[in-house]
Amino acid sequence: INATDLGKIKDAQGEVTRSYDPAYMNTVACISKISYIDGDKGILEYRGIPIAQLAEKSSFLETAFLVIFGELPNPKQLKTFTKKVMTHSSYHDGLEKFISAFRHDSHPMGMMSTLMAAMSTFYPEANPAYVGANIYKDKKERNKHIYRILGSAPAIAAACYRHKLGLPLNKPNENLGYVENFLFMMDKHVTDTDYKPHPSITKALEILFILHAEHELNCSTAAIRHMSSSQSDIYTSLAGAITALYGPRHGGANEAVLRMLEQIGSKDKIPQFIQDVKDRKKLLMGFGHRVYKNYDPRAVIVKRTAEEVFSIVGKEPMIEIAMELERIALSDEYFIKRKLYPNVDFYSGVIYKALGIPTEFFTVLFTLPRIAGWLAHWYEFLDDPVNNIVRPRQIYKGYTKRDYVPMDQRK
Ligand code: ACO
Repeated sequence: INATDLGKIKDAQGEVTRSYDPAYMNTVACISKISYIDGDKGILEYRGIPIAQLAEKSSFLETAFLVIFGELPNPKQLKTFTKKVMTHSSYHDGLEKFISAFRHDSHPMGMMSTLMAAMSTFYPEANPAYVGANIYKDKKERNKHIYRILGSAPAIAAACYRHKLGLPLNKPNENLGYVENFLFMMDKHVTDTDYKPHPSITKALEILFILHAEHELNCSTAAIRHMSSSQSDIYTSLAGAITALYGPRHGGANEAVLRMLEQIGSKDKIPQFIQDVKDRKKLLMGFGHRVYKNYDPRAVIVKRTAEEVFSIVGKEPMIEIAMELERIALSDEYFIKRKLYPNVDFYSGVIYKALGIPTEFFTVLFTLPRIAGWLAHWYEFLDDPVNNIVRPRQIYKGYTKRDYVPMDQRK
């Protein structure tokens, strides 16, 4: 692009200058009160509360309430919210037909995105295309979808998992906690309805869910705001956010980290791997972040949580490679100069592996809690007086006007 035409775009008023900002590196697209990040200092707060306090003291549903509605719930509000979410912990029967049609080797994120979009077809009364966008102005109506989506997502995820493993689908246990019920539904051997997952494993996953609940305007959250701006229904919009999260540059990094660690295989191969990264043949997955130019505060807590999980289920051998990789990278000029530190995905996969969860399922474990953040942004966007349709502009560099060439005259 020539400096002379950078950002010059013709519109009805004539030529106006707009900033050319691919990947929106310098574009502020909304005003939000949901989460705050200071990437240089390594700070993350949800509604003003530091992430470390929430990880230590809160539960996932309490954090979800905070993120979506703006305040910590009082005891009565939390009880009602929990009840409403948990009474939606089964999914619509129609989804079972979709699930049974999936190939057993299909990626669970493809399944999740498909099933979330399919939900819109089971609740057409929620579709602004049929009933008008005003439907979402009614907060009771919004909340109905919030309860249903938060409630059924773990059951949908567990169903994808069970289908892939060839296990019969099972029913939720509404009397368990949110994360506890998810672990219950995922268990391969559950026949006993009194079964309860290990409380320390539940607590560890609860912490991971809290850490993944929200992260301001990342790729998938920008996607949900983008899609909601055209007034598509919440289920289809969420399917789009799930798709954005799926990629290895975003939520898919937790899966990519594990594959990378397995490929490295042993500590003695690390120096060669680091050299390949510096030669730009490979990326060090789980390192680097668009906003954090310091240690991701979530990664510190994930690393600590890993130790707690290992003390129950035994140490996952990949942790040794991960820790040595981090040690070498953090003392190498290449990574120091570029401010590349571990992000939330670097250690989370090692925990999931230790819990016996298949690698390709890792990003689903990111999706479930992030639904809270996506719903919070949807909610905030609906109330934003400037919620116009998102419509960036482009600089056209293609052909100038030319004539159609008939087939027999083409070379
Ligand atoms: N390994 C090696 N080099 C890297 C890495 C990495 N993981 N990340 C960035 N770099 C280098 C780039 O090559 C670039 O070097 P250069 O200036 O010499 O060209 C420099 O660091 C700056 O990188 P950018 O690509 O400009 O950083 P950007 O903000 O665009 O990308 C991203 C951020 C996508 C997260 C990137 O760091 C990456 O791909 N990381 C690996 C994937 C990953 O872990 N993603 C999860 C992010 S957290 C999340 O989404 C939940």
